[in-house]
Amino acid sequence: MALREIFKFGDDILRKKCREVTAFDEKLWQLLDDMVETLQAADGVGLAAPQVGILRRAIVIDVRDGNGALELINPVITEITGVQVGNEGCLSDPGEWCEVERPQTVKAKAFDRNGKEIEVEGSGLLARAICHEVDHLDGILFIDRVKKDLAKRS
Ligand code: CO
Repeated sequence: MALREIFKFGDDILRKKCREVTAFDEKLWQLLDDMVETLQAADGVGLAAPQVGILRRAIVIDVRDGNGALELINPVITEITGVQVGNEGCLSDPGEWCEVERPQTVKAKAFDRNGKEIEVEGSGLLARAICHEVDHLDGILFIDRVKKDLAKRS
């Protein structure tokens, strides 16, 4: 495992649309292992492959609920319910926190690292993280969805 560099806002790579993962092989597993390590080292909640320079549809999420990191390959949000408004940040934009509206509950289908189809359901922080990370796969950043900027800009 190895830490990967996290690309920051302003880098074009964060605005690109990612392609689906088609090979569930050792290269993917290495990427996922590195992403989880990078996420945890940065004390973040979620990380998407384009943030480490890989334009593939893979995300990792760790809401520190004791269940470890969640790996979602080719994730698709299938159902959203309710609304939550809260502060949100991004490892590609350290120190910036903005108020973003997201669904309260999200259902998604995806594949695990072995190519097996899985379904996840999350509410609160997990729902927020799934939406935020899936957005990254389409080049969408949380600042695009800001309702109100709570951060102080100098
Ligand atoms: Co982000």
